[in-house]
Amino acid sequence: MKIAIGCDHIVTDTKMAVSDFLKAKGYEVLDMGTYDFTRTHYPIYGKKVGEAVTSGEADLGVCLCGTGVGINNAVNKVPGVRSALVRDMTTAIYAKEELDANVIGFGARITGEFLICDILEAFIKAEYKETEANKKLIAKIDHVEKASADQSDPHFFDEFIEKWDRGEYHD
Ligand code: RB5
Repeated sequence: MKIAIGCDHIVTDTKMAVSDFLKAKGYEVLDMGTYDFTRTHYPIYGKKVGEAVTSGEADLGVCLCGTGVGINNAVNKVPGVRSALVRDMTTAIYAKEELDANVIGFGARITGEFLICDILEAFIKAEYKETEANKKLIAKIDHVEKASADQSDPHFFDEFIEKWDRGEYHD
């Protein structure tokens, strides 16, 4: 499995440690930068990681910045990316199992290196549980990604609201 990883300048040391962890576990790592501690901008590396995943060059992506907010937001703008900013195991597993997340984001000044590695390993090992409901929700999210006139239709989410009204959701 190939994993693309990217970060901004304030967490390059954590990115290198996470990259070494992945390599030690037998994964191939594509390091999209940044490679040092020179001031840079997280959208550059979010975009690179996202494009590596959506082009098929990598199977999954990992994004790190100080809080994780900036780079996770940037990577999610790449069409086809479904990234979750994660600080715990449950969220990471949910993101893969239910949303088929293909990128995971961390705030490396918030979450410690060891916890990032444990969460990342759980994310990689978790498998997407395809259900009709998940497929439809992901398709709807994909649809929102490309602006179109029907999104301003007040009935755009009716299918899901009706399901809720019929008691088809249980969480
Ligand atoms: C540094 O640019 C810092 O603002 C960034 O790494 C991050 O915390 C943003 O979400």
